[in-house]
Amino acid sequence: MIYLDNNATTKIDPEVLEIMLPFLTDNFANASSTHAFGLSASEAVKNARQQMADLIGTEIHEIVFTSGATEAINLAIKGIAENYSNKGKHIITLQTEHSAVLDVCKYLETKGFEISFLPVKKDGLVDI
Ligand SMILES: Cc1ncc(COP(=O)(O)O)c(C=O)c1O
Repeated sequence: MIYLDNNATTKIDPEVLEIMLPFLTDNFANASSTHAFGLSASEAVKNARQQMADLIGTEIHEIVFTSGATEAINLAIKGIAENYSNKGKHIITLQTEHSAVLDVCKYLETKGFEISFLPVKKDGLVDI
């Protein structure tokens, strides 16, 4: 089989699996728990967050882990829309966007935002 849907989900990299296995087996504590078991999980999450921040050259507090793309998309679009609504309430997106994006935009439309859903050409590029 040739798998061509890696944007939907991707096979875990063996190196990532090796690093993650202890947290899926023995060290499975909730990182928000205040007992020693939880604190050790929290330390591991903190290290991962620092590594991500170093990798992309940002601050540790700017790294937010989400459960998946839909949650990340909701957090980003609603967060930006609400925080910058004093500067403008017009969002431009594409008709071909994933439903996770389109649904948030349709929701924001009910909250008074103007949404432009731009069409695309046959090749999928934006038809400006
Ligand atoms: C472009 C795009 N956005 C969003 C999603 C939704 O992702 P999730 O299932 O992680 O919420 C997918 C999933 O296939 C996707 O391909």
